[in-house]
Amino acid sequence: MEKWLFLVLLCPLLPAPVRPHEPVPLPAVVFGVCLGIGTGGFIWNFFSSGESCKELEEVDIADLQEDLENRLFGQHLAKGITLQALSGFLRNENPSKALAISFHGPTGTGKNYISQIIARHIYPEGMKSRYVHQFVSTLHFPHVQHLDTYKDQLQQWIRGNVTACKRSVFIFDEVDKMPSGLIDAIKPYLDYYDYLEKVDYRKAIFIFLSNAAGEIINKLALDFWKAGKVREDIKLSDVEHHLSLSAFNMKDSGFWHSSLIDRNLIDFYVPFLPLEQQHVKMCIKREIMDGGIIVDDELISKVANDMTYYPKDEKVFSVKGCKVVSTKLNFYLLPTMNGTVDRPRNLSVFSNLFNFVSWVFWGICSSISSFFYFVFWGISSLFLNIFYLISWVFWGICSLFLNLFYLVRWVFWVTCAIFLNIHFVYENYVLVALCFSEFR
Ligand SMILES: Nc1ncnc2c1ncn2[C@@H]1O[C@H](COP(=O)(O)OP(=O)(O)OP(=O)(O)O)[C@@H](O)[C@H]1O
Ligand SMILES: [Mg+2]
Repeated sequence: MEKWLFLVLLCPLLPAPVRPHEPVPLPAVVFGVCLGIGTGGFIWNFFSSGESCKELEEVDIADLQEDLENRLFGQHLAKGITLQALSGFLRNENPSKALAISFHGPTGTGKNYISQIIARHIYPEGMKSRYVHQFVSTLHFPHVQHLDTYKDQLQQWIRGNVTACKRSVFIFDEVDKMPSGLIDAIKPYLDYYDYLEKVDYRKAIFIFLSNAAGEIINKLALDFWKAGKVREDIKLSDVEHHLSLSAFNMKDSGFWHSSLIDRNLIDFYVPFLPLEQQHVKMCIKREIMDGGIIVDDELISKVANDMTYYPKDEKVFSVKGCKVVSTKLNFYLLPTMNGTVDRPRNLSVFSNLFNFVSWVFWGICSSISSFFYFVFWGISSLFLNIFYLISWVFWGICSLFLNLFYLVRWVFWVTCAIFLNIHFVYENYVLVALCFSEFR
């Protein structure tokens, strides 16, 4: 009886039933969207193993050519040789040795830039790819006294990475600043061996970048200009031999007396010519377009005129190539970035299309996640309401019985009280009658 009463008392303490048509709060929808996209991204990342090693020829050479045409300016030799070298090597299923290309030239002429483009066309992740490895001499090999340690580390690193993926790309930046003799540690991997300690290095690509022979290239370009010839007339044969010779004889540099040069293990020596003002302008234009800003000729001229050119009188070639273009451009765009002037946005069809597609994608994602949120919310509230219904029915039955009990008790109590009162009235009546009879 007491337990029953306790349960009955508990029923009213239960919260009110959920209303099924409550509006869903915005933060919940946003949370649902983020959760949906995040979970989707995680699942995608988890199940797609990311990039894969490209052992077979999967590189679109036409695409690479187009990219070089659109992005690399004033380097007809570098473009031509790189394309020829890569297309031949990548198509060959059984090359006799690894590909070794050495890029030479003055500062800011595009040596790192072209390496990035090449890397991106072999592996879409580009320099971030796990199959593309960059060594910067001043960063990775700063101390000459650790030469032997560096040699061991370099060999282990290359062996490990080529074992993992034959089509690995190794970029050695600032070779001219490398401790002399270090680069010879990789000689066995560039040589004509089918297998070395059971590893096949013949599909690997080695790219060397240096300023070695920069002076020779500058002089050649200037001579051509002074002779009134167009730079496109400069041929590889005019300079190739000088490149290897100059690099080989450059004392205290990475290529000094290197057996890579001595044994002809470098397949291509590629000169990067100094850039003229017209090329600097093209770099600026490219930078502007990449930033999604409307191309403004006045701005291009301003930035180009801000660069330093040599020789002093003729001002033909840019001292720093295109290297500081983005910094200078940002300087001119600075007031607009602070919000004082409206930055002219490039409202091209493609950027609008991209915006449109990204919004559509966002809409689809949010509607899917909201749909799931509603379905889940609807089912859970249905169950909750069924539970509340049962609890209310139970409570109703319990309170009905309780009230019946109280009713019976009250009826009994009232009946008793009536009889008791009648009894008392009768007794009093008898008493009063007795008193009157005595008194009389
Ligand atoms: N020929 C070019 N065409 C287009 N952009 C270029 C060219 N050369 C340089 N640039 C631009 O300048 C930037 C710097 O060039 P990069 O780092 O390739 O120079 P570099 O030749 O490696 O110079 P350094 O010898 O000083 O290392 C590039 O990121 C690119 O934006
Ligand atoms: Mg560089």
